[in-house]
Amino acid sequence: MEFYDAVNARRTAREFLQKDVPFDAVKRILEAGNKAPTWDHNRSWQYIVLQTDEEKDYAFAEAKAIAEKFDAERYLNMPRAYPITPGQKMYGYAMPRQFSMLKGAPYVVIPLFKAKTVKDGALSALNPFATAWCVIENIFLAAAAEGLACSVRIPLDKEHDAVKERLKVPPSYRIPAFIGIGYADPSAPRLEQREPDLGKQIRFGKWK
Ligand SMILES: Cc1cc2nc3c(=O)[nH]c(=O)nc-3n(C[C@H](O)[C@H](O)[C@H](O)COP(=O)(O)O)c2cc1C
Repeated sequence: MEFYDAVNARRTAREFLQKDVPFDAVKRILEAGNKAPTWDHNRSWQYIVLQTDEEKDYAFAEAKAIAEKFDAERYLNMPRAYPITPGQKMYGYAMPRQFSMLKGAPYVVIPLFKAKTVKDGALSALNPFATAWCVIENIFLAAAAEGLACSVRIPLDKEHDAVKERLKVPPSYRIPAFIGIGYADPSAPRLEQREPDLGKQIRFGKWK
């Protein structure tokens, strides 16, 4: 697939077809992750790959509890001073799927990055985190180029530590995201997305 076709095809999936994904495709996707730019020149990240229902149930107990607790009906219909926004609609749709979008994906990749505790201050302190997201975006785009799609969940703090402990991740590593990979279910609803207007975003030379 051409690069811009992959960019345009990429979107977050939260429903997957129960269709096998060849592991060779996952390996090509992770090789694309390994080609991402890196701040420390070490490319020292690792990937935990989950496949079975048992592995996913074990890893994502917190995501399951969070998804089950979320009352989408209440959230989407609560009184608001303004009409519900596309972002709020997306949140109300996504929250109940935080576990099923991982469990339903034939593969879940958990990238692991060496990172000290993020401190306030210079943005450059976020370089390990920025590198992680360069890798993750390459994974998303490579999956799109393979005709696949990704779900992504960012673990909350306690969830992060609990998953890390259960999967026996060494202390020096952090988990930026859980990434489900599979064939997107084409019958899943497509929610409205805000389309930025490039003509209003580009400012030549200075702000104005
Ligand atoms: C940094 C980041 C964090 C995200 N966290 C989550 C998440 O925890 N759960 C989820 O369902 N989607 C998550 N998403 C996916 C976004 O909801 C999605 O990218 C956004 O709605 C735009 O849709 P698109 O990816 O289909 O273009 C995250 C995306 C990014 C870039």
